[in-house]
Amino acid sequence: MAEVDLSDVAGAVLIDAAREAAGNAHAPYSRFAVGAALLLEDGTIIPGTNLENASYGLSLCAETVALAAANTAGRLRDVVAIGVIGGRMTSAGLSGSDPVRPCGRCRQILVEAAQLGGRDIVVHCASGDGGAVERHLLSELLPFAFGPDDLGMN
Ligand code: THU
Repeated sequence: MAEVDLSDVAGAVLIDAAREAAGNAHAPYSRFAVGAALLLEDGTIIPGTNLENASYGLSLCAETVALAAANTAGRLRDVVAIGVIGGRMTSAGLSGSDPVRPCGRCRQILVEAAQLGGRDIVVHCASGDGGAVERHLLSELLPFAFGPDDLGMN
């Protein structure tokens, strides 16, 4: 029997969890809500959502918030996949037909988790309207990444 990859099976579940988290976005300035959900190797899901600030440049992305929560739980090295969804906030929910992909800073922070865990991370990206979903590998989104491996940390 073919081996089943948990990180793929969980794609829809992660996007659902990310959408729920996006409902708590603090994004009064951009009106663009993003939700993220990390899958850990034991099946635990850790959500995050964007946290904006009146001093605009201090805003935190959903993916970074989720990764910080995983780290707080001592689980940064256990991340196997992430689901991300985002869109403009409307009275009917999130709008937008383009999948939201992690920004450059979030990709770099994901690399930290990937290299600590000695694995690539599957990145599921969805549009706000739910109509478009993509599956990527972190190594494709940020090739030739610098990380803890380069410092001989693993
Ligand atoms: N944002 C995220 O949370 N994740 C990303 O990968 C891209 C952007 C947030 C930051 C800001 O609160 C809003 O989306 C608009 O840029």
